[in-house]
Amino acid sequence: MPHTIAIVGGTGAEGLGLAVRWARAGESVIIGSRDVEKARETAAQVAANAGAGGHVDGADNAEAVARAGIVVLTIPFSAHATLLKKLRSSFQAGAILIDTTVPLAATVGGLPTRTLGVWQGSAAQQAAEMVPEGVSVAAAFQNVSAGLLTGDGPVDSDVVVCTDDERARQVTVELVEKIPGLRAINGGRLENARIVEQITALILAINGKYKVHRTGVRFTGLPIPAPR
Ligand SMILES: NC(=O)c1ccc[n+]([C@@H]2O[C@H](COP(=O)([O-])OP(=O)(O)OC[C@H]3O[C@@H](n4cnc5c(N)ncnc54)[C@H](OP(=O)(O)O)[C@@H]3O)[C@@H](O)[C@H]2O)c1
Repeated sequence: MPHTIAIVGGTGAEGLGLAVRWARAGESVIIGSRDVEKARETAAQVAANAGAGGHVDGADNAEAVARAGIVVLTIPFSAHATLLKKLRSSFQAGAILIDTTVPLAATVGGLPTRTLGVWQGSAAQQAAEMVPEGVSVAAAFQNVSAGLLTGDGPVDSDVVVCTDDERARQVTVELVEKIPGLRAINGGRLENARIVEQITALILAINGKYKVHRTGVRFTGLPIPAPR
């Protein structure tokens, strides 16, 4: 049974990459944006790129959230609190929010290789504090660069899934594994998202040193094989 996934900020690089991959896997995707026309244009682009796969639609962020049981947040950290506050009343009861946000200093004019201190510990923990009761938050995909998602081949990376809710973990793991090459790693509690978010700043520094856009992360020594 396909999921319905709203991607808030789905017109950006990360959201677009995830949308194409999930649409190809047969999921039903709603691209969310502040601008409904932009959302529809991006949805058409995703549908063309994904081929005959899933159903892709565009809507303003609030409508996208209201129509989906799974909401994926792909927005700059500078918009995180304000947007979550606006969207609070739109969530379905029992929805799952997957937060990909990294509090990069670049979102407020600083360096992309540094992160901002977040009072709650991480962007994902800030989200958990802001969503209505009954909405579960999982943190994932922060270390998967849009450069890796773009293209047709397998994505050579692990995705650490941090959450305090086992249903949210299960759904997030399923969505990770819908993308060829990605492997989901159980990263424990949501509070561990603070460590995973920091790794993205390191990845950006490594990308800069090697002049690439597609550094990924793999964990070794685990009893779950990495996909080929
Ligand atoms: N890019 C990557 O490689 C990558 C990798 C891992 C994690 N991430 C994380 O994923 C998130 C998104 O990254 P991105 O590169 O896709 O970002 P982006 O392209 O800069 O922005 C994504 C979307 O967010 C919306 N947005 C921008 N400013 C906003 C505001 N003030 N209020 C509401 N919405 C706003 C825009 O959509 P509309 O204009 O259509 O509303 C935009 O298309 C970030 O937190 C980033 O750290 C990114």
